[in-house]
Amino acid sequence: MMSSTTINSNNTITLMGSGLAGSVLALLLGKKGFNVRVHEKRSLEVNPAQRARSINLALSDRGIKTLRETGHLADILEIAIPMKGRMIHSIEGNQTFQPYSSDSKKHLYSVSRQLLNEKLGEHASKLDNVEILYNQTCKSININQGTYDILDKDGQSTTYSTSTIIGCDGAFSAVRNSMVKLDRQNYSQSYLEHGYKELCIPPGENGAFLLDKNSLHIWPRGSFMMIALPNIDGSFTCTLFFPFDGELSFKSLDSKEKVHQFFTQYFADAYKLMPTLLDDYFSNPTSSLVTVKTSPWNYQGKCTLVGDAAHAIVPFYGQGMNAAFEDVLELVNCFDKAFPKGGQSSQLSNETLWECYNAYQNARKANSDAIAEMAIENFIEMRDSVSDPMFLFKKKVEHLLEQTYPNRFVSRYELISYSTEPYAYAQKIGLLNQQILNQLVKDANFDISKIDLALADKLITQVLNK
Ligand SMILES: Cc1cc2nc3c(=O)[nH]c(=O)nc-3n(C[C@H](O)[C@H](O)[C@H](O)COP(=O)(O)OP(=O)(O)OC[C@H]3O[C@@H](n4cnc5c(N)ncnc54)[C@H](O)[C@@H]3O)c2cc1C
Ligand SMILES: *[C@@H]1O[C@H](CO)[C@@H](O)[C@H](O)[C@H]1NC(C)=O
Ligand SMILES: *[C@@H]1O[C@H](CO)[C@@H](O)[C@H](O)[C@H]1NC(C)=O
Ligand SMILES: *[C@@H]1O[C@H](CO)[C@@H](O)[C@H](O)[C@H]1NC(C)=O
Ligand SMILES: *[C@@H]1O[C@H](CO)[C@@H](O)[C@H](O)[C@H]1NC(C)=O
Repeated sequence: MMSSTTINSNNTITLMGSGLAGSVLALLLGKKGFNVRVHEKRSLEVNPAQRARSINLALSDRGIKTLRETGHLADILEIAIPMKGRMIHSIEGNQTFQPYSSDSKKHLYSVSRQLLNEKLGEHASKLDNVEILYNQTCKSININQGTYDILDKDGQSTTYSTSTIIGCDGAFSAVRNSMVKLDRQNYSQSYLEHGYKELCIPPGENGAFLLDKNSLHIWPRGSFMMIALPNIDGSFTCTLFFPFDGELSFKSLDSKEKVHQFFTQYFADAYKLMPTLLDDYFSNPTSSLVTVKTSPWNYQGKCTLVGDAAHAIVPFYGQGMNAAFEDVLELVNCFDKAFPKGGQSSQLSNETLWECYNAYQNARKANSDAIAEMAIENFIEMRDSVSDPMFLFKKKVEHLLEQTYPNRFVSRYELISYSTEPYAYAQKIGLLNQQILNQLVKDANFDISKIDLALADKLITQVLNK
């Protein structure tokens, strides 16, 4: 390690991490006139071949609401591909399209994490009062003193002091790790027995899409599944969700021959489009899926957490980034209320920041707990549902009610993906919907024509108050 220096910055907000949440938070706080310094572990430069084809994410209304606030939504949507529904691939290779919503104007977007992150970072860096420093890893923070140590790529270590630190450093947050060591900090982490691996369907000739471009593709196979989202270069990024251990698992597929057999048996239609699969399978990492909960989210006014740092969730509702963007908007609103004169004319005092962070946590914690729980439920559903006739029948009845009673009966999926109603509200309505469905399916004997719509009408009034 080379010499160590100390840099003091008065009235500065430090963000740790310039991922999705960090870059959009830097942009929005910067626009309000706050001095923002961001330390990001990654290098700014990436391998060009990797750029467009990096992992892609489903962006929905919640995330879009925050992106609109940046003033750059139109620019961002240029790299986004609308997905109008799910394309289910059966084991025989048949494709069935399920629109996401009875309203054809509603859709999700597929967006490259890398390109989105770049755009947000570029817009933020253009502001005079925002500085994003790349190749800088936060090693530790001294929360009480408001100091932290940064290690750069050359091995140079620098100690900074700052007014306040916001941990935007993802699921394995260094800021959160420092907080967890404090007294009376609740913390839990829980890993799924499944992990994931990214694979690729390259573009066809002249950048042609080899599967339907405007769908989120799903290959449900009971205890495991694969999904694929489109990229703007015509490729698809596939993600295989698969157990770590067991008879059919990442561990058991330990040779190219076994991988070849497995894909031929379960994903034959996709496999035909994956010329580099056998190499990709062994060169790409197998990653784990974790749910992290912690509370409180702040230590006085000294630090707080947003996005995955505050609440890592499993990806089965495609909501982690969307939830992170909702956090950002809420936190910025709390800053607005706490510092009504704006960043330039406000002193960032510990007391006012503390109030601001408490208000932010009060608004968000129950909602992030709700989406964390629902994401795990959705994983269990997606995994087991294919073999449960009652589950499939209830889904049918749910669609019937949505179509028969629009605005009165709204499914939990719709509330999560196509509304900006709080997640905790979606969770509550989801439970009430289940009560209604349970009553309706009782005597229907798996026959949709036997569903008593008069009873449904009455139950919607009674149970949902609609
Ligand atoms: C397989 C998978 C699929 C997903 N699909 C979706 C989806 O379809 N839709 C959706 O909304 N969400 C999805 N998510 C979730 C989404 O990726 C995350 O919720 C989102 O990236 C969280 O943003 P963040 O900014 O909090 O964290 P990140 O995006 O992880 O950013 C954290 C940043 O902090 C930096 N950093 C980390 N440690 C340090 C340190 N010590 N010092 C400095 N910098 C540091 C990192 O380099 C990174 O840039 C998915 C997640 C997974 C795993
Ligand atoms: C970050 O480090 C990489 C080498 O690891 C270097 O190529 C790049 O120029 C550095 N980027 C910045 C912004 O310092
Ligand atoms: C799949 O398609 C084939 C041929 O088009 C058809 O015979 C078969 O019944 C279909 N299977 C399912 C499960 O839909
Ligand atoms: C920590 O967890 C306990 C037990 O669930 C709970 O009673 C307490 O309120 C939690 N504390 C915080 C700060 O969330
Ligand atoms: C923050 O303010 C509170 C309330 O005035 C005080 O109790 C606490 O010691 C302060 N913390 C720091 C780190 O200054």
